[in-house]
Amino acid sequence: MSSLYLHIPFCHHKCVYCGFYSTARYIDRDLYTESLLKELHTRKDFIDNSLQTIYFGGGTPSLLSLQQAEKILTGIENVYDLSNVTEITFEINAENADADYLKGLKRLGINRLSIGIESFDDEDLRHLNRSHTSFQAETAIKNAVNAGYENISIDLISNLPFSCFEKWKKNLDIFISYNLPHISCYTLMIEQGTMLEKLIQNKKYFPVSEEYALKEFDYTMNVLKKNGYIHYETSSYAKPGFRSEHNTAYWTFQPYLGLGAGAHSYNGNIRVWNKEDAELYMSYYQGETSSKIQSYELLTSEDRFNEYVMLSARMQNGLDRKYVKKRFPEYYENFSRRCREMINDGFLNEDLSLTLKGWHLQDSLILNLCNV
Ligand SMILES: C[S@@+](CC[C@H](N)C(=O)[O-])C[C@H]1O[C@@H](n2cnc3c(N)ncnc32)[C@H](O)[C@@H]1O
Ligand code: SF4
Repeated sequence: MSSLYLHIPFCHHKCVYCGFYSTARYIDRDLYTESLLKELHTRKDFIDNSLQTIYFGGGTPSLLSLQQAEKILTGIENVYDLSNVTEITFEINAENADADYLKGLKRLGINRLSIGIESFDDEDLRHLNRSHTSFQAETAIKNAVNAGYENISIDLISNLPFSCFEKWKKNLDIFISYNLPHISCYTLMIEQGTMLEKLIQNKKYFPVSEEYALKEFDYTMNVLKKNGYIHYETSSYAKPGFRSEHNTAYWTFQPYLGLGAGAHSYNGNIRVWNKEDAELYMSYYQGETSSKIQSYELLTSEDRFNEYVMLSARMQNGLDRKYVKKRFPEYYENFSRRCREMINDGFLNEDLSLTLKGWHLQDSLILNLCNV
């Protein structure tokens, strides 16, 4: 079974930290919707016909009207067998979480919301250049619950250079008070080309120390575990039965088709990515240009092995010795030797999942296990 991702690359404005492809320039949303449907028809055979998960990500999908969302979902229904779909996620920006809008999405079949909150602290939100206040963030959660969604996730960002440990603790307390089933706690990444990178270069902010980052990571893991959440991937915590199926499909190498400007696709052998240019994307699907809008990469066995290590090591179950031996026999000996060293040094458990010491150093451990 396969997954479908739709990239909606418009944003009200650009947040200082965000390196995802999105634009605050005017994009004709009807035309973009039409282009998505044309791409869907053109590329539908990239994956098999039976879908398991669908994900509207961005950018800001919640800038789509209900009519536009319906048009896209109807288009998908006309092309794929949806009888096995278990999860349809829609990313919501807190300022767009109007009660009627969320109820309307539910009527269309959306059964999971991922709300971008980042922090419940107004000062943090101003530094991040978010379009919403903490009041709007909490209202978004309440509206989602009242609209009848059971499967709700929020995003928070830790290690903010302008924030503090007390605020992070309060963020988690507020999340816990709503008893939601899922949270993604991302570590702030200083992405190239962002305003945040410039502010750091100009010494307006200083990245948090490694020691501070570990303190937030450990606190997050402990407090969420104590409250019944399973730490199933580096940044992801879920109550039993509420893991993100779509993201889990990515992390376990299931095939997916990504539609929209900047979207990526993968079918086990080949990776395809659409150019990050919404205007060019629309011109192409309106037949106004024949410029190249996609790039391809045929994956070598080494690429696949490295991806396996990078993604699996971040997951609760860790790496699988038997799988590596069977799928990547040429790398097995080295892999096995390095794993043994890491077990002896206390970074990996015998089942090759990360120990607490391992979680702390995971980026360098993963690099050490990759074939580079
Ligand atoms: C692709 S964004 C889209 C979500 C939605 N547009 C929003 O902002 O609410 C998904 C999530 O990625 C996370 N994110 C984006 N840039 C990040 C960065 N530089 N470091 C850490 N997390 C980041 C944020 O938590 C954000 O909610
Ligand atoms: S974080 Fe979300 S709203 Fe902000 S620029 Fe990125 S995609 Fe847009």
